[in-house]
Amino acid sequence: MASAGAALGAEALHVYSHRHYEVDQKVNALFTAKTGIEVKVVNAEADQLIERLKSEGKDSPADVLVTVDAARMQRAVEDGLLQPVKSEILEKSTPGAMRDADGHWYPFTLRARGIVVAKDRVKEGEVKDYADLAKPEWRGRVLARSSTSGYNQSLLASIIAAEGEQAAQKWAKGVAKNLARPPQGGDRDQIKAVAAGLADAAITNSYYLGMLLHSTDAEERKAGAAVRMIFPNQSGRGTHANVSAAGITKHAKNAEAGRKYLEFLVSPEVQKMYAEGSFEHPISMDLSLGGQIKAWGEFKADETTFLKLGELSPAAVRIFDSAGWK
Ligand SMILES: [Fe+2]
Repeated sequence: MASAGAALGAEALHVYSHRHYEVDQKVNALFTAKTGIEVKVVNAEADQLIERLKSEGKDSPADVLVTVDAARMQRAVEDGLLQPVKSEILEKSTPGAMRDADGHWYPFTLRARGIVVAKDRVKEGEVKDYADLAKPEWRGRVLARSSTSGYNQSLLASIIAAEGEQAAQKWAKGVAKNLARPPQGGDRDQIKAVAAGLADAAITNSYYLGMLLHSTDAEERKAGAAVRMIFPNQSGRGTHANVSAAGITKHAKNAEAGRKYLEFLVSPEVQKMYAEGSFEHPISMDLSLGGQIKAWGEFKADETTFLKLGELSPAAVRIFDSAGWK
């Protein structure tokens, strides 16, 4: 008897993915509906997936690697785990400053790391830059998740890239000193704690606020409504942003389906699914694709430090340590 894959007329596509959002299942189901190619996903942390690809070598079943961090993709390239892909669609649809120069991976959503502030306690314009959160007047008023989070590591890596290690150290120390509590929980927990009055500002990816604002849980919607989203550094290099990115593995058995999948991820139809489903920004920054991202409005994302995030993330980890940011 034919297997399900064969019945659909094509070999399955095996994806190793660090993404863990509901919208991804819908995206994969749509890909199958359009192409007949079944998508089989293995979910784990990027570091684990990279280790797994290394140890499996040419026997790996994976065709595609997906992470939510350009630095991890750069490491996968250095480890020889990805193969270059040439695609006009991918080149046309993604910013040149935010992808691998040789096409080993391409971004498909933009993930801005901004700041939320309590609407009733923080005046418009009071917080404009990440630097504000390190000022003495913010003592005991700031929240952030652990420095073990890749999101914080890439933020600090961007500060190192733009301002140097000393400035980054000073900033990390200042914020660590201003924290209202030792880091705990994820970004959503920081937003909820600001809404609950535990602090006045928190560092968070914008899509987590989107998830709260559009939650089925009324308490979460209330928490989201209590804060204002700020995209920092608009008069400077722009808001730190990372990406979801995908690349085809070195030993892919189904590289052609992998290329189709990557091209599918940047199609307007799928970009709209992300904008409306996980509230990430389209990689094209076309804000007309989703109501929430349109409401937040235009902002400049920092493209200048982007390709240095991987190289500088070990330095970021070291600086967080010495700054006492747990
Ligand atoms: Fe996330």
